[in-house]
Amino acid sequence: MSITDFLGPLRLGVNIDHVATVRNARGGGVPDPVRAAVLAQSAGADGITAHLREDRRHIRDDDIERLMAALHIPLNFEMAATDEMQAIALRHKPHAVCIVPERREERTTEGGLEVSKDQNRLSDFVGPLAEAGARVSLFVAAVPEQIEASARVGAAVVELHTGAYCDHHDAGDFKARDAELARIAEAAAQAHALGLEVHAGHGLSYGSVAPVAALREVVELNIGHFLMGEAIFRGLPDAMAEMRRRMDAARVTEAA
Ligand code: PXP
Repeated sequence: MSITDFLGPLRLGVNIDHVATVRNARGGGVPDPVRAAVLAQSAGADGITAHLREDRRHIRDDDIERLMAALHIPLNFEMAATDEMQAIALRHKPHAVCIVPERREERTTEGGLEVSKDQNRLSDFVGPLAEAGARVSLFVAAVPEQIEASARVGAAVVELHTGAYCDHHDAGDFKARDAELARIAEAAAQAHALGLEVHAGHGLSYGSVAPVAALREVVELNIGHFLMGEAIFRGLPDAMAEMRRRMDAARVTEAA
């Protein structure tokens, strides 16, 4: 019998942005992202993530208000580092704030924050949010200087961008995928050593989740687009249960 090692719990944050994308395609009230959030909550999500973009292309201001009222699990409020968003976050006081780069013309959050080039501004930006009680997370690429800078500006958490890793996985370029995974693993260890909590997300699917879930320092994954796509075919609770099963299985390893 082999000895197994449990790496510790891994939280699943469910991103409900793309329920709002479908709603907004018709401009009405359905499907309601808050209903999806409440369903995810009852199906065992550890948190809900919603990104209020500057252009309001999916989540809208009143969704944030309704999410705050409806949820008893933590809301992770994703936003750009703008004065408008800071004021909204300070008004609602969500459990967590994840600061992401935002470019109007991008289809999704394409890169990580350039923390190292913007340290003074980000320190000033993070301070009031942290003082208001939010756990502030910075969405960064797995690059050593970005991790160091994240610790310097006072973030509690870094969320490592898994988009490039997932793109290589989906394209079948396993050499590039494994190189990116190695960078993510190193960044996770570096961030943990600096006292930062480590999250990861973007583009994760059933096929790509296990190696990221198996990183000891990672304590939360935020997953949206793939889960909502699966939910169309099998329902959200079932889609989440399969993701959870794969995450949990990856946390149990053979001890060295
Ligand atoms: N984490 C962050 C910071 C994101 O910006 C996103 C996408 O909004 C996600 C996780 C989830 O990515 P996906 O929808 O591709 O699962």
